[in-house]
Amino acid sequence: MHLQVVDHPLVAHKLTLLRQDTTDSPTFRRLADELVTLLAYEATRDVRVEPLPIRTPVAETTGVHLRHPRPLVVPILRAGLGMLDGMTRLLPTAEVGFLGMVRDETTLKASTYANRLPEDLSGRQVYMLDPMLATGGTLAAAIQFAFDRGADDVTAICLLAAPEGLAAVEQAFGPQAPVTIVVAGVDERLNELGYIVPGLGDAGDRLYGVV
Ligand code: URA
Repeated sequence: MHLQVVDHPLVAHKLTLLRQDTTDSPTFRRLADELVTLLAYEATRDVRVEPLPIRTPVAETTGVHLRHPRPLVVPILRAGLGMLDGMTRLLPTAEVGFLGMVRDETTLKASTYANRLPEDLSGRQVYMLDPMLATGGTLAAAIQFAFDRGADDVTAICLLAAPEGLAAVEQAFGPQAPVTIVVAGVDERLNELGYIVPGLGDAGDRLYGVV
C-alpha cells in the first residue's frame, strides 16, 4: 500500500475551513468539491495513457490520451457522492460505478447494501471516493470488492485518514498491494465512537444533513 499525503497550502487552507463547525452545508459541499479536484490531480499522476498522433495548426506531433479500458470512479455511498463532481471534472471520460457501504455503529463493521459496478474489472484502474478513512473497515471491504472483480490497481481518495484506518488497510492487503491512498491529511486518532480526531465530524451529515 502506498500513502500519499498531499502537502499543499491550498489543500491545507480548504481543509481547515472544512473542519470548522461553523461551516454550513452549502459551503462544506463546495469546499469538498474543490479539495477533491486538487487531490484528484495528485491521485491521477499514474493514470494510464497511450500515444495519440495529432496535427496542430503548425505541425504534426504526438500527444497522449487516456488508455482503454477507461478508469472507473467509484464513490462509496453516501458521503463519497459529495466527492464525485470534483473527480469527474478532472476525468470527464471516466466511467462511474456505485458502491453502498454502511457501517454498524455498534460493531463498526462494514457491509455492502448496494452495488452498481461492472462484473469484470480486469485491467481497470479504479478510483474510490470515501471522505473519511476511519477504522478502515469500509474502505478495505470496498477495495476487496474491486479486487474480487479483477481490478488490478485501486486508488482511494479520502479527505482525512486516521492512523488506525491506514494500518487496517495496510494489514488487509499487505505493503506490496497495488493500493494507493491519497489524503489531504492524517489526523491523530479515532475516538471511542469511531470518529476521527480532530476530524471534521460526520462527513455525510455535513454534506447532506442528518437524515
Ligand atoms: N465517518 C465520518 O463521517 N467521520 C468520522 O470522523 C469517521 C467516520
